Amino acid sequence: MTASKDLLGQLAESAPRHLAELVEWLRIPSVSSDSTRIHEVKQAASWVAEKLERAGLDVEIMPTEGHPMVYAESPKIDGAPVVLVYGHYDVQPVEPLDEWVNGPFEPTIRDGNLYARGATDDKGQVLTHVQSVCDWLASGQSLPLQVKFLIEGEEEVGSENLERMLPELREKLACDCVVISDSGQYSDGQPAITYGLRGIATYELTVNGPSQDLHSGSFGGAVVNPAIALCQLLGSMIDGQGRVQIPGYYDNVRDLSQEERDQWAGLPQNDSEFASAIGVDKLSGEQGYTTDERRWARPTFDVNGLTSGHQGEGVKTIIPATAKAKFSFRLVPDQDPSEVTAAVEQHLNDHCPVGVKWNLEADHGAPGMLAATDSRFVHAANAAIESAFGVLPVLIREGGSIPIVTRFQEVLGCDCLLLGWGLSDDNAHSPNEKFRVEDYHRGIRASAMLWDEIGKLN
Ligand code: BES
Ligand code: ZN
Repeated sequence: MTASKDLLGQLAESAPRHLAELVEWLRIPSVSSDSTRIHEVKQAASWVAEKLERAGLDVEIMPTEGHPMVYAESPKIDGAPVVLVYGHYDVQPVEPLDEWVNGPFEPTIRDGNLYARGATDDKGQVLTHVQSVCDWLASGQSLPLQVKFLIEGEEEVGSENLERMLPELREKLACDCVVISDSGQYSDGQPAITYGLRGIATYELTVNGPSQDLHSGSFGGAVVNPAIALCQLLGSMIDGQGRVQIPGYYDNVRDLSQEERDQWAGLPQNDSEFASAIGVDKLSGEQGYTTDERRWARPTFDVNGLTSGHQGEGVKTIIPATAKAKFSFRLVPDQDPSEVTAAVEQHLNDHCPVGVKWNLEADHGAPGMLAATDSRFVHAANAAIESAFGVLPVLIREGGSIPIVTRFQEVLGCDCLLLGWGLSDDNAHSPNEKFRVEDYHRGIRASAMLWDEIGKLN
């Protein structure tokens, strides 16, 4: 069968159930970084494993040293392509809680949007592929290709266990193309195929001073304040124009091609609208680059969290004994996260004031990714997306990171297709995360059409 009238009719009929199932999954608080949520994370894995099992796929819950991964496969079809759908069922922390209109794990529909943590990142998006495959099989017809699923529980904490296990899973995961929906449309109603992502390197820096907090009257002026030293160290890493100041940081940065710059210049981008949508007066960033170039293809430095001293009510005049920052770099091809770590350590040695000591812990590291822009899979996706969204997708890069994606390319030797159904104002990682209900249903339709298109390739 083709994903033509029969299946599309069936998908339309099943739309209320598709939505109800997503709501059910979103109720499970699978925050992978929260050690008190281990049970709930496991529950979210079982939920999707059971859904795939009921549809008749071969399913395995694969334990890791951390959270489990769910693997499933439809029957092998001789001579037909094999696709691996990768996604994640883990979600980011939900704080600040009081900014959520409804509870993060009490999914609620308002104005055509489904609000909950994980709605777009990534339960809602990965479920589009699960639904299309389950419904295809429920129709009693065989798929025109083999679809494998790998849905993990540690993407939001760097995918280290998957990375370690990938070589031994090479045969099981063997495929012609990995399909991932964990990115976005370019703009509302303008779908995109994302052929590049930035990599990432994340750190926790502690600056330690006196052995305990000190009265700032008795000791102020006589010792280095760790909170000030931390701010100075962080400030020394970037200039006012957004240029990272760590020696060697730009050495391996691959320049944007003129062709790419010209293509992106043709995308409808409006800086003032972009600024007002996020509540700032003006955008800012590295000189000489447009906003899309800065977000997608230039490396950056960001402070993600800062803690030191008195956070409670009122005044407490102390010199804090210690200060901590969480910071990260977004990396682009061909920067290497471990070389960045070495350069940061050197920079800290060169800039840390005498009288305090620094300690750096490197957390996650992943390089930037580039995928083919003209493969047969891209052509198949063009056709599938056009039929579901009514417009052809544009080719873009994005600035977020999917840590395992370059390892798929290297270890599995496969193509990569990143098809995002989300919107840039879906509030991923923020309060009031959402996924537009219509985009969920369009994603399911596009996914069904994709199997059809890929099935025609061999
Ligand atoms: N869905 C994102 C990746 C993404 C974000 C792709 C924006 C395209 C645009 C993914 O779930 C994510 O958030 N990854 C983390 C990885 C990190 C915690 C190691 C990220 O990018 O911060
Ligand atoms: Zn995320």
